[in-house]
Amino acid sequence: MRSRLFVALAALLGTVVAQRIHRHLDPQRRTLRCPRLDPDAQVITEGTIVAQFPYSKALIVGAGSGISASLARRFAHHGVKVALAARSVDKLEALAAEIGAITFAADATDTSAVDALFRAVDARLGEPDVVVYNASARAHGPLAELDPKTVERAIATTAFGGFLVAQQAARRMLAHGHGAILFTGATASVKGFPRSAAFAMGKFALRGLAQSAARELGPGGIHVAHFVIDGGVRSTRRPDPAERPDSTLDPDDIAQSYISVLLQPRSAWSQEIELRPWVEPF
Ligand SMILES: NC(=O)c1ccc[n+]([C@@H]2O[C@H](COP(=O)([O-])OP(=O)(O)OC[C@H]3O[C@@H](n4cnc5c(N)ncnc54)[C@H](OP(=O)(O)O)[C@@H]3O)[C@@H](O)[C@H]2O)c1
Repeated sequence: MRSRLFVALAALLGTVVAQRIHRHLDPQRRTLRCPRLDPDAQVITEGTIVAQFPYSKALIVGAGSGISASLARRFAHHGVKVALAARSVDKLEALAAEIGAITFAADATDTSAVDALFRAVDARLGEPDVVVYNASARAHGPLAELDPKTVERAIATTAFGGFLVAQQAARRMLAHGHGAILFTGATASVKGFPRSAAFAMGKFALRGLAQSAARELGPGGIHVAHFVIDGGVRSTRRPDPAERPDSTLDPDDIAQSYISVLLQPRSAWSQEIELRPWVEPF
């Protein structure tokens, strides 16, 4: 009796082990391992079943209808609770209702406002383990004519706000040895265009912050990544020009790339990726 029980148990164990091995070998399952949390945690990237996403609470600073809205929807799809921050939050109501997000009014350039924002998010959502800095501002015009105050404001929005947000995020994430901080860049992050000095200064600075933060925080378990969005983002206001089809970036596809970076195993993290439409000769 006892030996039959032993044989049955051994057979069961053998089946479980065989299934595990098969699951890891079968490429059709398209699974990604997420070793930071649980060696067996898996996310099915193609299909609707999401077993486990390595982050659970996201804060997007600089939320609107473009990249941030697409990203917020992707987060919600993966079961991530979402906080959306902008100076004016009325425009975010429909999106927040759609995905169950919470909105927060805050100016990213204001040190005490950013401090208060993170404390409010901690209280209502829990400490965010993924933070995205998405705000930016431009000041177009010939260098000789730019208003210094407007330029100062643009740099503060594009870069200094990124520092304030990353600092608050790092303080929380370092304590857990886990988290991700993502920065949205632009072509101007790597190329200074004429009549666009303020934007170039802001985006170059943000890229510098992202590089420095990645080297400093990576060994603490925090994945820092910068995204060079190399082209115009498609929207109802800015559809693809008829004479250049497919020449803008679809914000949903950009968001999918952010998600892919967040799913990277830590032995092979990206610090920066460039995204551009396939027709772009760059
Ligand atoms: N759109 C493009 O074609 C394009 C191309 C390349 C790169 N990018 C980059 O992609 C990012 C997102 O652009 P998007 O057009 O898709 O924008 P978006 O995600 O739709 O929204 C950005 C939001 O940032 C908020 N914001 C601006 N200043 C802020 C501040 N001081 N504090 C808090 N929030 C602030 C704005 O709301 P409030 O005004 O209410 O604060 C705005 O709704 C930007 O970094 C941009 O430089 C965009």
